[in-house]
Amino acid sequence: MASRIPQSFIDDLLDRTDIVDLVDGHVKLKKTGRNYSACCPFHKEKTPSFSVAPDKQFYYCFGCGAGGNAIGFLMQLANLNFPEAVEELASKAGLSVPKDDSTTSKAASAASQAKTQARNQAYDLLNRASQYYQSQLRRHADRQKAVVYLKGRGLNGQIAQRFGVGYAPEGWQNLMLELAPKKEQEQALIDSGMVVEHEETKRRYDRFRDRIMFPIKDYKGRIIAFGGRVLGDEKPKYLNSPETIVFHKQKELYGLYEARQHERNLKRIMVVEGYMDVVALAQHNINYAVATLGTSTSSFHLERIFKLVSEVVFCFDGDAAGLKAADRAMHTCLPFMEDGRQARFLLLPDGEDPDSVVRKEGKEKLTALIVDATPLSDFLFQRLSKDLDTHNLEHRAKLATDASPLIATIPKGIMHSMMQARLSKITGLDKDTLEQLIALKAPIAKPEPLETSKPSALPTTNKAPITGSKSDQNTADLARQSTHDYADYHMAHTNSDIDENAHHWHDDHYQSAPSDHNAPLGSAKHSFNAMLPKVQNPAHAAIRVILRHPEAVEPITQIPSHLSELKMQDAGVLIQLLSTVQAMHKQLKRWPNPAELHIECASWESWPMLRQLAALESLLPQGNYPQQLEEAISRLLGHHFDERYAQILQLASQPNADASIKKQLKELLKEKEELQNRLKGRQ
Ligand code: UTP
Ligand code: MN
Repeated sequence: MASRIPQSFIDDLLDRTDIVDLVDGHVKLKKTGRNYSACCPFHKEKTPSFSVAPDKQFYYCFGCGAGGNAIGFLMQLANLNFPEAVEELASKAGLSVPKDDSTTSKAASAASQAKTQARNQAYDLLNRASQYYQSQLRRHADRQKAVVYLKGRGLNGQIAQRFGVGYAPEGWQNLMLELAPKKEQEQALIDSGMVVEHEETKRRYDRFRDRIMFPIKDYKGRIIAFGGRVLGDEKPKYLNSPETIVFHKQKELYGLYEARQHERNLKRIMVVEGYMDVVALAQHNINYAVATLGTSTSSFHLERIFKLVSEVVFCFDGDAAGLKAADRAMHTCLPFMEDGRQARFLLLPDGEDPDSVVRKEGKEKLTALIVDATPLSDFLFQRLSKDLDTHNLEHRAKLATDASPLIATIPKGIMHSMMQARLSKITGLDKDTLEQLIALKAPIAKPEPLETSKPSALPTTNKAPITGSKSDQNTADLARQSTHDYADYHMAHTNSDIDENAHHWHDDHYQSAPSDHNAPLGSAKHSFNAMLPKVQNPAHAAIRVILRHPEAVEPITQIPSHLSELKMQDAGVLIQLLSTVQAMHKQLKRWPNPAELHIECASWESWPMLRQLAALESLLPQGNYPQQLEEAISRLLGHHFDERYAQILQLASQPNADASIKKQLKELLKEKEELQNRLKGRQ
């Protein structure tokens, strides 16, 4: 017997599908009044008589009479039967279709039915809550203070009404008593996010009290959450609904529904930071602003925006937070920049936001700024070269490595080519070279946090003998670590979040704190002793182990090749020390003790440094010293990679070095590939 698809699932599916999006994916829709229209996909016609109604979630053709919901559209378009169309729609929504004919699917169907019910209940409650808050703005004894506040912010009643602005009066259980007069109704209010239950006392109370209330609507106009602002300076300034069955803040844009209600043919959408910005802009007749809900601009947001318009403007405050938001938005935006789409950035003067600017300067001036906002392409180069001098060759090379991977995320097309051409022009590097730089920079393996990576030993790439399966593990660990190191380093220049955790060594620079990248060793500010407890130069870590535990050298019968190529501070001393200990072992037929080794080293130029390192025994973690030594040495491989990468950049910055950089790039890429293959072999 054919199984039936539970009705509750179908309801749920239709609920999650926007027929406008669905149809638009097949025939390009144009906004016409409340509805959308196109030439009918089901019969031949020259003038559009096919229309889609977003509020009814229905399509209809006045020409041929075709009509139905989203499932019907797919059935008719692709000649599918009902279950097939449901299947297709479900997969688009990321759902799997339950069947009605087994006990488990019965349970699933009951669950999905319960979910639909819960969602509907939430919509209903939130809608009633909004009605309640709006009525309080008109009727409550304290209404005047809310009205005065809104007026003080330049908003009139009409705008307040358009956005459904309301007032949650003072008091702990106003909404609760209004919407859940019976105890058993309270749980639904808790689930909708409007009522909070105290963890210990279990007392239940309204989440929003004495606040101006902004209802947040989804694309169908259903209220899914609220933002509430205090009337004074109390904290938190804004309180938002928590995530609920109907509210996922990552996906929603405040004001989008209202903007589309106001103007179906939106030309552009402007993303701003706050509720008040959206409403104040609308008050000044700028009706295309939307706000993210305390989150950064996500791919969900951009997907939705670019379905509606081809132009997005990001308008943020000019402070550090605004810049950070703009940088993030830029990164998220790049993969969406198909031809014909535009993204621009408007950073307001520090201390201003769209609300304050539109009130001070008026619509015309702000519109002029919006129209004139910096295009994404300019913004990207501006941001990446902010601390660089593009007359300086090395700086240009750095720009190349920072910008290439970003440009690589732009879909192939005019914008992509133009950006690449621009980068080539600035850096003097051709397209192939830039592409190779990107490939080189991509991580070898997914980096994991350093804390979790196991202690690693010497890699198989060098000549140190390592036996058995342990070596495979070691290679993986090594790759992970070295990848992590250099990925962090290069990322650090483009992403300030990661900067704080960057573990990187410059050739002869110590990085003691994120703010002090370039303090040279031995500078007055950072005396050697003062530095050591903070730094973890792997060469020094290795030296320290050897000086205190010379026998730890035993597994290292040959000097790893990458060590001798390292330019890092004191890598040479490490090599000298390794071979000295091995030589002494040969001579003595046993491992020298620390004192014997120290006497041997006392005549070296580096002895003062060695002596200080040796004195730092207390910093040496107890335990497996050969392993600690191996670990330090393998960490140096990551630095070796870093150094060679830096060397290539150096080369890249030479005016006529394209040929030699290509050769080196090829070599380094090959090496990386080998490492990758070895890793794959393990999996
Ligand atoms: P802002 O702090 O920039 O406030 O927060 P604003 O939009 O200028 O607010 P007004 O003009 O003082 O009324 C921007 C956005 O960050 C979120 C809100 O979404 C707010 O609109 N936010 C801010 C919170 O969620 N909670 C807060 O306490 C503050
Ligand atoms: Mn503001």
